[in-house]
Amino acid sequence: MEFKFDEFLIEWMDLSNEYKKLEITNTNYLDALENLELLQEQCTMQIKHQRYRMQQMLRTMKQQTSNKHLSTEKDKLQELEKNMLKRKAQLHEIEQGLPQKNSFYLNIILGNVNVSILNRSDKVRYKDDYEKFKLILNVIGLLLSFLNILVNYRALELAFLFLLVWYYCTLTIRESILKVNGSRIKGWWRLHHFISTASAGVLLVWPQGEPWQLFRTQFMCFNVYISLVQYMQFGYQKGVLYRLKALGERHDMDITIEGFHSWMWRGLSFLIPFLFIGYAFQAYNAWTLYKLREHSDATWQISVLSVLFFILFVGNTTTTMLVIPQKLRGRIKERYRLMSLSGALKARKQNRDDRIAKNKFESSGLDDGRKTK
Ligand code: COA
Repeated sequence: MEFKFDEFLIEWMDLSNEYKKLEITNTNYLDALENLELLQEQCTMQIKHQRYRMQQMLRTMKQQTSNKHLSTEKDKLQELEKNMLKRKAQLHEIEQGLPQKNSFYLNIILGNVNVSILNRSDKVRYKDDYEKFKLILNVIGLLLSFLNILVNYRALELAFLFLLVWYYCTLTIRESILKVNGSRIKGWWRLHHFISTASAGVLLVWPQGEPWQLFRTQFMCFNVYISLVQYMQFGYQKGVLYRLKALGERHDMDITIEGFHSWMWRGLSFLIPFLFIGYAFQAYNAWTLYKLREHSDATWQISVLSVLFFILFVGNTTTTMLVIPQKLRGRIKERYRLMSLSGALKARKQNRDDRIAKNKFESSGLDDGRKTK
């Protein structure tokens, strides 16, 4: 084939013209990005302002409620307080679309990189991923701990303990990212996973000897039980996520929110007895280890683990006991959060459907164009 330089040159000029278009698009993109940052800053400032003013108003209202002359205004004040609660939830929802600062822990581990997820459905997907990660690692943990009950082989034991250190450490990172992205996960559950990382580390360096052999089977049985309970927890959390997603697709918000709540209470009343048995097991572990301190071959790991198991028992029991009254008290706030979240998910779904319909329409137009040619 003959090489035609002129044709080649024309093609290059064509491409250069297209590149100019790309340059313009890029300039527009950079402008939009700058504008976006500006808007984000403005939103953050306005949220701060809203919170500051509300705090001032609440302080004044508290002073006024003790004023007897205002007893007739009590209903109005209560209504205002309710509206403020709603506003707090609204501000929280707006914040979900804005970048947040990393925690100190994340800064140490990841460096100064922003982990904010600005899109609501991506946030839900990340949470979904976190739950799946826990499930897979739990199944592996269940198999390994079960195998360790059947076989007493040091390498297998160490593999399991090492897996526990890595798993809990990874959880602390993932949960810190979830927290930056607006998760309401309680401080205790995060601390729980830090303590569990430390416990698994101590177990890993606990020298082989009679005390370890005396505790070993009990510990492996505990892990089998915990893995099963965590499987139930996965079922519960997955149900919550599934229902949240479904909320965004329904029309009658009141019915679906009521349905969500009744499902949640049913799920909780099924799960909680199993959780408390797990906590009793933790207390029993602490007690067994406490007794093992008196063994002639006892090492420092035994006392440390006894204290750590006891802390886990107390922390878990208190936090889980507080969950129910907290959920009852926070109903209005929770209700508004759900409505707002479902609204956001619904808007996203609508956008996605519109985009798909538009793409279909455009591609069918192209096909028609080709056919008529
Ligand atoms: N680990 C990680 N995240 C948790 C959590 C836990 N143990 N408990 C709650 N969360 C998360 C929820 O998913 C939710 O996240 P979101 O804001 O991103 O949606 C947030 O924290 C708030 O949850 P909350 O409404 O307080 O509770 P819940 O209804 O989701 O769950 C329990 C309540 C009691 C079922 C749950 O806390 C639980 O399973 N606790 C037991 C954990 C435990 O004891 N583990 C050791 C096993 S022995």
